[in-house]
Amino acid sequence: MNILGIETSCDETSVAVLKDNMILSNIISSQLFHSDFGGVVPEIASREHLRNLPEILNKALEKSEINISEIDLVACTSEPGLVGALLIGLNFSKSLAISLNIPYIPVNHIQAHLYSSFLQKESLEFPFISLIVSGGHTLLILVKNYFEHIILGSTQDDAAGEAFDKVAKMLGLGYPGGPIIDKLAKKGNKNYHKFPISIIKSKPFDFSFSGIKTSVLYFLKNIDFLNHQEESIIPDICASFQEAIIQTLSKKTINAAKLHKIKNIAISGGVSANSRLKEIFYSLKTEGYKIFIPELSLSTDNAAMIAFTGYLKYIKSHGDLNSIELLKQKACPRLNYKDF
Ligand code: KG4
Ligand code: ZN
Repeated sequence: MNILGIETSCDETSVAVLKDNMILSNIISSQLFHSDFGGVVPEIASREHLRNLPEILNKALEKSEINISEIDLVACTSEPGLVGALLIGLNFSKSLAISLNIPYIPVNHIQAHLYSSFLQKESLEFPFISLIVSGGHTLLILVKNYFEHIILGSTQDDAAGEAFDKVAKMLGLGYPGGPIIDKLAKKGNKNYHKFPISIIKSKPFDFSFSGIKTSVLYFLKNIDFLNHQEESIIPDICASFQEAIIQTLSKKTINAAKLHKIKNIAISGGVSANSRLKEIFYSLKTEGYKIFIPELSLSTDNAAMIAFTGYLKYIKSHGDLNSIELLKQKACPRLNYKDF
């Protein structure tokens, strides 16, 4: 089955072609100019998606060596996201599906981040603990099987990625803040300052990151950062802030894994690209945990995860999800992808 995936929920225009569970192409075009505004401007994002989609679609088809007439299914992000941006992708996908007379499947973007954990070389087995850390969501989930999830915790206020973006803005570092803070933190001292993280006693697996944001703000005010622009301390602030966030994410995830006696941990969403996060989670391998983190093009927003989730939803409503396992064993011993 040839699946076309389309993603336009925020500032990435992406189109992917999958043959069953194998990625043939995954073209991602990031709207970098939003950094001039310090964040994504919804109206401009929508217009850019509209302008970009036909070209990105052609590139994805060309790379996959699949003709548009051979596409069997169109899957597109339907929620959550910027309403205008979503509408562009949805109308484009639905029109395509109608003109090709093939099914259209709406896909939840967060669910797609969860299933992106399957789009890597190592095969991930159920049950597993999933930590989804993106710009808008922080979720800890117990995944028992395809479409059998229990949400253990979520964010009470800001998402992890959002905290990275907002602190980067306070430091005058640009957008998106996560990759910039990650890079600068490598040169900084993570013990320079202890930024506090709120603990929610009644909900131990919930997250709250708005307090640390305020704490960074007061710290900067105290040292009169804006007037002195002490650039030399920026890497130290980045490293200390990052450490507080990543330690919180890892501790809660490990506690959930211990409580449910699960050794498989999958982390996805943009923040899973963070190098300190990878370092801390991969170090858990010595304790017998298996850690699954998608490569960069699959951890940040991409259409391959949308196509794959659409495919899972289609199989669920038209057949047997066990056929996915058979595919893994027979046609694709490992989920595989061509170069991007
Ligand atoms: O999943 P994603 O691409 O989009 C959403 O669904 O939100 O995540 C984007 C978020 C942004 O907040 C960005 O700053 C963060 O992921 N991010 C990172 C890194 N790369 C991207 N955060 C920390 N370290 C990184 N290396
Ligand atoms: Zn996302």
